[in-house]
Formats: sequence, structure tokens, C-alpha cells
Amino acid sequence: MTTSSSSAAEKKFSLSMLITVITIVIIAILTFVIIFFSRNPNNEYILKTLDLNGSIEKGDSLFKMNCVGCHGITARGLVGPDLHTVTSRLNDSEIINQVIEGLTPPMPSFEIEPQNMSDLLSYLHTLN
Ligand code: HEC
Repeated sequence: MTTSSSSAAEKKFSLSMLITVITIVIIAILTFVIIFFSRNPNNEYILKTLDLNGSIEKGDSLFKMNCVGCHGITARGLVGPDLHTVTSRLNDSEIINQVIEGLTPPMPSFEIEPQNMSDLLSYLHTLN
């Protein structure tokens, strides 16, 4: 009687251990998956860009080469919006994302060197 009840208790114990272990493993996997999918693959690019000093003059000419067709020669807007208050509405990371992601067609995604992106940002900051 004693033996059978103690083995039943052991079974119960090992079952709850098993459930605990499985729960921990599931939580660990979920945590990993969430971290993996929520990390922004552009973070490294953005951090690199924010670390650089941009040149307003170079940004100005980059803007004239790539952006005026849609945003206008004075950035007052054509197909794309007026960009004169954009740096007070969006932070630098959001602006970088806007330029490199192509999330809002017809604005294309630009493959642009961090230094050039930094120059463009400096230029956009002069528009306020
Ligand atoms: C083919 C047209 C086109 C070109 C070229 C273009 N854009 Fe745009 N851009 C747009 C449109 C359209 C939007 C508005 C998207 C939306 O609906 O949110 C936009 C939005 C933006 C915004 C966000 C504005 C806001 O108010 O939220 C920024 C910043 C921007 N563009 C910067 C640039 C820069 C910098 C370049 C050049 C490297 C560029 N764009 C080139 C069409 C263009």
C-alpha cells in the first residue's frame, strides 16, 4: 500500500516536473521567436547613419538628384508631400526608414550609403 502510494506520488511529481520543463521550454522558444521577429533588420544601418556627420551641401545635391521629381525643387511638394516640417513630425530613424524601406509607393526604396543618408538628413533638418 505504502509502496504503491509513494510511486503514485513519484509519478505525479515527475509529471508536474515534466509540465514545468515543457512550459519553460515553450516560453523560451516564444521569447526567442518574438525577439527574432521584432528586431529591425535596418537597426545597424540606422545606428551607423545616425553616428555620422552629414554635409548639408552634399545632402542638398543628393536631394536635387533623387527627390525633387516628387517632392519639388524647393521640397514644397509635388507628387510627394511638402518636406519642410518633416523633421519636426518624424524622428531621424523614421525618416531613414521612409527613404530606405519603400513602404509607401510611389516613393521608391533607395539603396543609399549611410554617409549619403546622413547628408540627406542634415539637408532635411535645414528645411524647418
Ligand atoms: C516617385 C516619387 C518619390 C520620390 C522619387 C521620393 N519620394 Fe518621398 N514621398 C513620396 C510620396 C508619394 C510620399 C508620401 C507617402 C505617404 O503617403 O506616406 C513621400 C513621403 C516622404 C517622406 C515622409 C513625409 C511625411 O510627411 O511623412 C519623406 C521624409 C520623404 N518622402 C523623403 C524623400 C527623400 C529624402 C527622397 C529622395 C531620396 C524621396 N522622398 C524621393 C514620393 C517620392
